[in-house]
Amino acid sequence: MKIEGKEYRTIWFENNTVKIIDQTKLPHKFVIKDLKTVKDTINAIKKMEVRGAPLIGATAAYGIVLSIIENTDHSFLKTSARELINARPTAINLKWAVDRMMNKLSGLNSDKILEIALNEAQLICKEDISFCKSIGINGLRVIEKIYNKKKDTVNILTHCNAGWLATIDWGTATSPIYHAHKKGIPVHVWADETRPRNQGANLTSYELNEEGIKNTIIADNTGGILMQRGDVDMCIVGTDRTLANGDVCNKVGTYLKALAAHDNNIPFYVALPSSTIDWNIKNYKDIPIEERNSEELSQIEGLDENGIIKKVQIYPKKSKAMNLAFDVTPAKYISGLITEKGICEASELGLKNLFK
Ligand code: MRU
Repeated sequence: MKIEGKEYRTIWFENNTVKIIDQTKLPHKFVIKDLKTVKDTINAIKKMEVRGAPLIGATAAYGIVLSIIENTDHSFLKTSARELINARPTAINLKWAVDRMMNKLSGLNSDKILEIALNEAQLICKEDISFCKSIGINGLRVIEKIYNKKKDTVNILTHCNAGWLATIDWGTATSPIYHAHKKGIPVHVWADETRPRNQGANLTSYELNEEGIKNTIIADNTGGILMQRGDVDMCIVGTDRTLANGDVCNKVGTYLKALAAHDNNIPFYVALPSSTIDWNIKNYKDIPIEERNSEELSQIEGLDENGIIKKVQIYPKKSKAMNLAFDVTPAKYISGLITEKGICEASELGLKNLFK
């Protein structure tokens, strides 16, 4: 998608270097950062210079490539794989991508190992773009149906950033929105600010602005009243891990939006590529929920009057704060899962019918 009119992807490989858009600097500064070692990729994932489930999976895949460039020893590769998987615990895409890379490379000692690793990492990215595009085409049907009935702007609420910046291109939750916009359907997006990292304000609103899509940032607690007022036609969010029974783990606050949508009879959709499905965990309580540094809550970053990015303390210094990054929305509150293969019920049967 576009930034200042120029097409970008969120990650690419050039001259033995992984290039990323440093998302900690957005929306104030557009910085392309070079990752040259596997440690660089691990740090970029931990610091959330890259974030969003599909993108951290792709970054980890390229991390494996960088690890081979650094050292062809298999024990170094295995340590790199373990550290990459542990960089962030909740998004299953990280483990999915690293396992896929390691399976592909298993038993290989040839000169071709680097070429094979690079091809696989690039294939992961290519597939993600194609899956996200298909999610858009499938999700467009839901938006179109609402528009055909309403004959007026479709108001869509989204949480966090499940946009193209969270994937390689198109996004998951935003892909149906981009497809609707391209088809001339008038859409307006309510972008939840998404405290504490503000991905909704800093990334979703930013990327929608760049594509010319109308949007309004709201404080995280505003969605409920907008739904009661009839100002939300549907919700679409992303996911970091979808269980085989249809339960969805996504950015903290998603669950409360789903409850409010349920209470107000508003369709609540989750968009995901199949790389986000965890076929193994049976009980949502077994999902590792990331707890991040509480300073992400107690301090906030923005531009000062001189255009310099600054961090300031906003809480009493002595107060304790807790920063859980994800929550789980039970399948019963989800109207449908929008995947690359079509839309299905959020249930074991629904998912199994699509992904045999
Ligand atoms: O902590 P983040 O910014 O990595 O969390 C991102 C989300 O929760 C997204 O909704 C999710 O990864 C889906 S991305 C297409």
